[in-house]
Amino acid sequence: MAQVDLDALIPNNVNLAGDRRLARALEAWQPRFVDWWREMGPEGFNAKDVFLRTAVDVGAEGWANFDYVKMPEYRWGIFLSDPVEDRRIGFGDHVGQPVWQEVPGEHRNALRRLIVTQADTEPASVEQQRRLGAICPSLYDLRNLFQVNVEEGRHLWAMVYLLHSHFGRDGREEADELLQRRSGSADKPRILGTFNEPVEDWLDFFMFTMFTDRDGKFQLLSLAESAFDPLSRSCRFMLTEEAHHLFVGETGIDRVVRRSAELSAADPNGLASPHGGIDLPVIQKYLNLWFSNCLDLFGGEISANASSYFAAGLKGRPHEDKFEDHVALEATRMLEVYEAGRLTERELPRRIAINEDARDGYIADCQRAVDRWNKTLDKAGLSYRLTLPHRRFHRRIGIYAEHFFAPDGSPLSAEGFARRQDAWLPSATDRAFVRSLQARPVYEPGKMANWIAPPQKGIDGRPLDFAYVRVEA
Ligand SMILES: [Fe+2]
Ligand SMILES: [Fe+2]
Repeated sequence: MAQVDLDALIPNNVNLAGDRRLARALEAWQPRFVDWWREMGPEGFNAKDVFLRTAVDVGAEGWANFDYVKMPEYRWGIFLSDPVEDRRIGFGDHVGQPVWQEVPGEHRNALRRLIVTQADTEPASVEQQRRLGAICPSLYDLRNLFQVNVEEGRHLWAMVYLLHSHFGRDGREEADELLQRRSGSADKPRILGTFNEPVEDWLDFFMFTMFTDRDGKFQLLSLAESAFDPLSRSCRFMLTEEAHHLFVGETGIDRVVRRSAELSAADPNGLASPHGGIDLPVIQKYLNLWFSNCLDLFGGEISANASSYFAAGLKGRPHEDKFEDHVALEATRMLEVYEAGRLTERELPRRIAINEDARDGYIADCQRAVDRWNKTLDKAGLSYRLTLPHRRFHRRIGIYAEHFFAPDGSPLSAEGFARRQDAWLPSATDRAFVRSLQARPVYEPGKMANWIAPPQKGIDGRPLDFAYVRVEA
């Protein structure tokens, strides 16, 4: 297999030096990417030194290097995980056959669509988060934001490499368009709805890295199962970086919960807000919003597209090896549908409801994190508990989208929902209050904003009061 080439214009382990045509095409895309970064990346920090990790290898040991970097000079590279010898298709109609190193003609359009949809989320999230540096709770958090941002940039590189190397002219055009769409834009929006939602404050950011990056993890796990081997290898390495994004989200929320619990426990009315903290019910509302938005990212409950992707071997289920039946042709699945004003169980072919397998795994993974936050509440002596809303709550895609449900999943009228909406989702008042706590950034090394507890430890063995971003320089 190809060596890691760190000195090339584009660091890579895909032997770009051996394919001058491809290298030239990517080298022409590179300055356009950096232009996009300067225009749409983190606002106000392009000239600052940030203590970042950079991928330098794909091995389990020592795959990354930590040092101060100015973000526009970050060494975005192309890295594929090591090939698996004699890898075979693990699911669908072609189970057991050798995987593909090239794109089969009949699956070209579908694969390009899957890759472009994944790719589009990467720059979108950087755009969504670009103003958070001006209101950060600490240098530790500021650095983590930028770490996530540069790695989303690298994930874009991973997908653009696939488009350039396997999809010819169409692929190159798609790669250009990835730099032209803009999150939240009216005329050129990003492809998926959640990636056009504003990320206005740091509670949003932690919810995003907890719930949206976790959707990303599940999409990458599904694509890592793909019969198209270069896609599988790209996604497997992206998962290594993604783990840190999920850590930022899960521990970020835990630190907000811990601080809110401390302040609430000491208040006669059990509130954190009079003491400059975020009330626990407001955290619950942000959770309801982001969790329900992210459930939509798994697609409809009944999906002919997902079924055909599965049949063809293009996109599997996360951790396909944990399922017993990899063909799922005879199997069925029960689904609660809402028909004629009531919920009814319907039995469906497993393949047509295959998105539910991924959604189940996602919900279980989110529940594990919620249990952890509840342990934090328990330790603080509070009886308040956070919960995941029902999968029917506040959906905009799929069979529940046209109807209204409470967080416990019970049906209600449009008016009934509208009346309770501010109790279930962040209201303008909630948002204004959270924003008021974050009006000023905290840039002194080791200091934390009042509304969040400090992390357990620093980054790469550095102390908490390390200058993770040199803001004054
Ligand atoms: Fe990503
Ligand atoms: Fe991510």
